[in-house]
Amino acid sequence: MARLSCCLACFLLLSGLAAVSQGSSIDDGLLIVTVATEETDGFRRFMRSAKKYDLDVEVHGLGVKWEGGDVATYPGGGQKVLLLRDGLKDYKLRDDLKIMFVDSYDLVFTNGAKDILERFERLQASIVFSAEGFCWPDESLASSFPTVKSNEKRYLNSGGFIGNAKEVVEMLNHLDIAPADDDQLYYTQIYLDSSLRHQWSIKLDTRSEIFQNLNGALGDVTLKFMGTHSYLYNIKTGVTPVVIHGNGPIKAEFNRLANYLVDGWTANSGCQTCKEDTITLKEVKEDDYPSVLIALFVEVPSPFIAEYFQAVTALNYPKNKIHIFIHNAVKFHEKDVTTFLEAAPESYLSVTTVSPNDNLSEDAARNWAVDECIKKNCNYLMVIDSLVQMTNPDTLKILIEQNRTVLAPMMTRVGKLWSNFWGAINQQGFYARSEDYTDIAENRRIGVWNVPYLTTVYLVHASVLPNLQQAYTSDLFDPDMAICSFLRKQGRFMFVTNRFNFGHLVDNEHFDTKHLHNELYQIFDNPYDWEKRYIHENYSKSLEDGAEISSPCPDVFWFPVYKPIFCQQLIEEMENFGQWSGGKNDDPRLAGGYENVPTVDIHMNQIGMEKHWLHFLSKYVQPLQQKVFLGYISDPPRAIMMFTVRYRPDEQPLLRPHHDSSTYTTNIALNRPEIDFEGGGCRFIRYNCSVLATRQGWMLMHPGRLTHFHEGLRVTKGTRYIMVTFVDP
Ligand SMILES: *[C@@H]1O[C@H](CO)[C@@H](O)[C@H](O)[C@H]1NC(C)=O
Ligand SMILES: *[C@@H]1O[C@H](CO)[C@@H](O)[C@H](O)[C@H]1NC(C)=O
Ligand SMILES: *[C@@H]1O[C@H](CO)[C@@H](O)[C@H](O)[C@H]1NC(C)=O
Ligand SMILES: *[C@@H]1O[C@H](CO)[C@@H](O)[C@H](O)[C@H]1NC(C)=O
Repeated sequence: MARLSCCLACFLLLSGLAAVSQGSSIDDGLLIVTVATEETDGFRRFMRSAKKYDLDVEVHGLGVKWEGGDVATYPGGGQKVLLLRDGLKDYKLRDDLKIMFVDSYDLVFTNGAKDILERFERLQASIVFSAEGFCWPDESLASSFPTVKSNEKRYLNSGGFIGNAKEVVEMLNHLDIAPADDDQLYYTQIYLDSSLRHQWSIKLDTRSEIFQNLNGALGDVTLKFMGTHSYLYNIKTGVTPVVIHGNGPIKAEFNRLANYLVDGWTANSGCQTCKEDTITLKEVKEDDYPSVLIALFVEVPSPFIAEYFQAVTALNYPKNKIHIFIHNAVKFHEKDVTTFLEAAPESYLSVTTVSPNDNLSEDAARNWAVDECIKKNCNYLMVIDSLVQMTNPDTLKILIEQNRTVLAPMMTRVGKLWSNFWGAINQQGFYARSEDYTDIAENRRIGVWNVPYLTTVYLVHASVLPNLQQAYTSDLFDPDMAICSFLRKQGRFMFVTNRFNFGHLVDNEHFDTKHLHNELYQIFDNPYDWEKRYIHENYSKSLEDGAEISSPCPDVFWFPVYKPIFCQQLIEEMENFGQWSGGKNDDPRLAGGYENVPTVDIHMNQIGMEKHWLHFLSKYVQPLQQKVFLGYISDPPRAIMMFTVRYRPDEQPLLRPHHDSSTYTTNIALNRPEIDFEGGGCRFIRYNCSVLATRQGWMLMHPGRLTHFHEGLRVTKGTRYIMVTFVDP
């Protein structure tokens, strides 16, 4: 005992609290005591809740080496009794004082001293222990406990008790106990001794009037809001407990509830903790910005990786405060890494690249990034995997300013529930859906959320990195699950924020990489990114009410549909495939084997893009058609003939007058007159009207038969490419 008492750190936090407190619970006659050897994230959450309700807390044991065992799994905790015995001895004569002992790493208050004392009064006891449904650590004692009603809890839990100072101190000194003995057993033995029970008038809080232990009781409680206040309601006993304890193996679920408790988030006022403990970079000179190691992981073939890298380059953060670490495990993406590095040569503090040739496993690469960050004396590690599209260039700043040790910007696949966090985990540490998951993933609840798992993109404060060395490696889990499991075991909170829109994730599940420009084919898997990259910025203007649609010839309409990059890549894809038809009447690709008006062309089905093109027709072309040829419904548009045509002087330079076998035809110019070729264009004979100044990415739409007999004009220089579709033959 002497050994312990001499190194005892005991802080009476009265003065620290006075600045914000309206009152003091000691004045009301209540002192809270707890034992904590470390200031964990859970401890800080506990202290925040005490401060919120003006509860004075005495902390015993800070800085003391814990000798009470791993109480999460095994009996132990006798050290707590010893620390309290020593710390509270002077209170024995304080008749005016009630002492409440509580655990702190997994516990919060939801109301203040007056409320607690009233409840204690009503229970008419000198000491009240919290109760739970499990008899631990000695199950054989179960039958010795007094019986209770079926909606009540029968067994003693030592994570919380309240009593008159005198009886509490006497009880703490009553029996012998060693640091590694079990504290719950200590109190149980006293409680089950009926003479002691009566002598000290000890009761269990079987109805959770004060204490709610959540292990085995999650189904007993429901979260409620009243204005700006949040609390738990016990539906079995009809009371609202004020000391909420996430005891046992349900920490993730307790952390989830604690996002809301202590008025952290309510339906009326939203997130009330989001603006607490934040910092700002506004007044900080860029030269004094924290340094960040941005670790980029390309572990799988990733669609839209060019945009992924561009977003990193576009981050609104001084490059001379950024170290870059890249692990690329995909050969196919080596050119993308090179492009990225060339985009900002020599402007980063340092660049470390691990290429596919280095044959480094993912976990080893992630561990290396941690080591590298430590070595470089970074202030933060920012992990960004290649499936991230970080469209908000302020992401890094926002995360730093939110000031949480491990924090992810929430991202989902566009319009999907798939995201970079889990709201809950099951017993084995794998995914489980939390009650509030969809509300958060779909932004109906906005906040900074304590979650059990996050992945793909997150910021880690350098202070935790020394604890994370080798933490991505595990026999049981993949690297992300390994590190999250590690952080959870250390009692480290992980947060995800959806306070801002940061970007989204791409879907790589069916990413086919056998083409030259694979993203051309992403219209189904990643329609949002596909549209953003390829569809003309003014496409939808044509669909607005009263839009002026240009009509270069009678009943010939003209629309911007594609960006130049689409045109360029489609040409390259075609040239890469290379099997241009000979421009002869005999054409084995066709059902009849005969083409009346042959061109030098490649069909969409030859490059595997037929169904993608049909989807494009139905999603993008059909609405345009409805604007200009009123009353003709073609849903979805049908097409058999869809092909890229190549005209050049030495090959096929023109196409004689003809009708198309279509109801209407679309003709998209893929390259530029006067620049890429000379001559060319389309002439409608009946109207003697030609479209010569075709525009790259713009689509001509005209009837196919009868009125619009037309010809392809001679190309005199260079190569002209068009993409033609015969709709509804
Ligand atoms: C890469 O590493 C794995 C195991 O780490 C090994 O089995 C494989 O042979 C290595 N490949 C090359 C090309 O070195
Ligand atoms: C939050 O801000 C405080 C004060 O600026 C700082 O001491 C603390 O380390 C920060 N915490 C994190 C997790 O960044
Ligand atoms: C889109 O339309 C606006 C307004 O007419 C024009 O200024 C802009 O250049 C157009 N964008 C492109 C890419 O042509
Ligand atoms: C067709 O138009 C061209 C130029 O606009 C003109 O030179 C030519 O005479 C016209 N032909 C007929 C048959 O009207």
